[in-house]
Amino acid sequence: MGFPRTRMRRLRRTRAIREMCGETRLSRNDLIMPLFALPGEDREEEVDSLPGVYRHSVDRLQQRCRSLNPPAALLFGVPDEDAKDARASSALDADGIVPRALRAMRSQREDLCLITDLCLCAYTDHGHCGMLTDSGEVDNDATLELLGRMAQVHAEAGADIVAPSGMMDGQVRAIRAALDEAGHEDVGIMSYAAKFCSSFYGPFRDAAHSAPDFGDRSGYQLAPANRREAIRDALLDEEEGADWLMVKPGMPYLDVLADLRRETRLPLSVYHVSGEYAMLTSAAEKGRINERETVLESLLSMKRAGADAIITYYADRACGWLEG
Ligand code: PBG
Repeated sequence: MGFPRTRMRRLRRTRAIREMCGETRLSRNDLIMPLFALPGEDREEEVDSLPGVYRHSVDRLQQRCRSLNPPAALLFGVPDEDAKDARASSALDADGIVPRALRAMRSQREDLCLITDLCLCAYTDHGHCGMLTDSGEVDNDATLELLGRMAQVHAEAGADIVAPSGMMDGQVRAIRAALDEAGHEDVGIMSYAAKFCSSFYGPFRDAAHSAPDFGDRSGYQLAPANRREAIRDALLDEEEGADWLMVKPGMPYLDVLADLRRETRLPLSVYHVSGEYAMLTSAAEKGRINERETVLESLLSMKRAGADAIITYYADRACGWLEG
């Protein structure tokens, strides 16, 4: 007898054995919660395409962050339409929506890691991630200077980490130089290093009012077909001085995350994006999947692929599920 000699099921027999053999774990310390800041006061709007996700005015955000479970937040500004212009001027305002939100949140929570999204798309009247040339292309080099100043404004207001998401070439180097020049050597850069041109961002553009008026972002974001190019782009960000690299979206790009894990020693984060959230909530609403189980499995799969941290609209609820 003796066949089969190797029985995989021995290690799966009891819960205690299974837990001891667990290779990957998910904890609240892995999670980063995206938050959207609105101008004005006493405003709270649920995002139509993202049930359970809200845009808050600064005073409400201040209350909200008191009870926030995850240890970190990623902050997006959602300025009014009439504050937008071709040069994204409101993104550089030291008293703009993000700096005010940062100060308010910091006054409540010394411990919370405050990360800011650094991109112009919510501040330009055309919705692209940079300044445009006369022929309507995104002007890479002119945009760098604005991003550097925006980073200084966020750092001044208390950001721990800035997260450039515009996929401009050279942005990490430009932002690092601008931060250092202003004496913010301690502010880190979490770069959206491998950010794909993805339809999974659809619901976010509704949340942040940041859809481009014309064209798309394929001139600056990565093509979904390209894995080698993604690694090359991400490693350039490391060379330019990024402290932390991100892959985005999450589940459809776990191969890129796993590849990048082998190529760098920097910490990695992954963005479980709006379209992924929308799919899970919709299926759960219809009773077709168990939301808690499928969400925790999705997040665990990202850790298994190599993520140190996960940005997810489920961050707050997942903390509750993990404790419960
Ligand atoms: C800004 C930005 C986007 C997202 C994060 N930062 C949208 C985009 O590139 O159009 C998407 C996040 C999500 O879908 O949850 N450039």
